[in-house]
Amino acid sequence: MSAVAVRRDAAVRIALATADDFDGWRDAARRLVAAGIAPDDVRWGVEGEDDADLFAGDAGVPAAGDGAPALRVSRAFLELAGKAALHRDPARFDLLYRLLWRLRQAPRLIEDGTDPAVRRLRLLAAQVRRDIHKMRAFVRFRGVVDDGGERFVAWFAPEHHIVRANARFFVDRFASQRWSILTPALSLHWDGGVLREGPGAGAADAPGSDAMEAAWHRYYASIFNPARLKIGAMLKEMPRKYWRMMPETRLIRGMIAGARAREVAMVSDGGARFDEAERPESLDAIGQAILGCRKCPIGCNGTRAVAGEGPRDAVVMIVGEQPGDSEEREGRPFVGPAGRVLDQHLAEAGIAREGAWVTNAVKHFKFEPRGKRRLHQSPTAGEIDVCRWWLDGERALVRPRLIVALGASAGRGVLGRTPAIGRERGATVALADGATLLLTAHPSYLLRLDGEARAREEDRFAADLRVAVEILRRG
Ligand code: URA
Repeated sequence: MSAVAVRRDAAVRIALATADDFDGWRDAARRLVAAGIAPDDVRWGVEGEDDADLFAGDAGVPAAGDGAPALRVSRAFLELAGKAALHRDPARFDLLYRLLWRLRQAPRLIEDGTDPAVRRLRLLAAQVRRDIHKMRAFVRFRGVVDDGGERFVAWFAPEHHIVRANARFFVDRFASQRWSILTPALSLHWDGGVLREGPGAGAADAPGSDAMEAAWHRYYASIFNPARLKIGAMLKEMPRKYWRMMPETRLIRGMIAGARAREVAMVSDGGARFDEAERPESLDAIGQAILGCRKCPIGCNGTRAVAGEGPRDAVVMIVGEQPGDSEEREGRPFVGPAGRVLDQHLAEAGIAREGAWVTNAVKHFKFEPRGKRRLHQSPTAGEIDVCRWWLDGERALVRPRLIVALGASAGRGVLGRTPAIGRERGATVALADGATLLLTAHPSYLLRLDGEARAREEDRFAADLRVAVEILRRG
């Protein structure tokens, strides 16, 4: 885009082609600096938006002298400026030029967070970034049929001039569909190969609802988790003004009202209403289904669920508490430090790990972020009870003869009550499905000990595993 420059009353007036014409600003600014024209002598505007006499006559920006030094600015400035240029603040181009002018003498100015102009630049850029994000998150398409077939149409009213800057995102995201995004300033139309721009439009120009709406409502209602409801944070992320563009928001009021009751129900019935008819019929299906399980807050934390592994007809099932940091990264149970302790003891006891089904009472990793680290947090009894659905599914499919539960959480996953490991370890429990349960300590307990205490607990753990071997030998 190119800028029109007009010299009048000793001031140079620059009329940029469009409100988001950062390239035009850059081009004009470079020439103005090279011509030595100070910010006080420049007036910035946008063609068609400012007073008509802005365009009366075109004197052009004085050409840069041959010897004018090339202006170099940091990438950090260009990035911030590129965003701030999209802000609706009419003074944005002037601000950018004033900063550019000063950058000649102070190349590191942009790092000075106490400078009022730099702070303003950062603020504008941040507000634009947020608006870009909002558009990506809150645009909702509705299907219509036009001459070319199905087209998805959305209406959105951004706060800043971000629509063109966001076009690439929607093209990449919905490359194979035909869609239009209508906004007050301009509209974008994608036909699967070419992106066209059209004039602005009003909300009434977009279709009101379609068959997808009901599906959206069902989906949103199913992922809504009352235990995680934070109304303040929700309103901050999704301000009310966006609500009318989003079908699911029609449900919000009712869901907030019912949230407390649902939360109470969730806690008292173990959280999850699993539908018996949907019980996975294979271990692979469980492995797939747990990835999408959001029945408890741990499942909602965005980490990868870790499935059990081993032979489908394993005679022994080893149950841990939950995947840890390494397990979540690798997607396999007991591959971190506790797993190494376990492997060593299993090998010494003569139990082949590869012959056992190794799994956990809870399938997602519960942690507390601490800087770059993720610190293990124990699951609550309620969370273990919710996840028991999956463990029960594994038990029903593998049908092990012996289950070794490592620690109290694993014990709860199998028994439905929290055992006292100190008292009950080493003893066996006959389970209703015919299997035998052996309770013992968790290997990470051993890892927390040292010296004599460690040696003593290692011996106890080894002794418990000898009980397991004995049970297997007896058949
Ligand atoms: N601790 C567990 O209980 N399970 C694992 O998979 C890893 C560590």
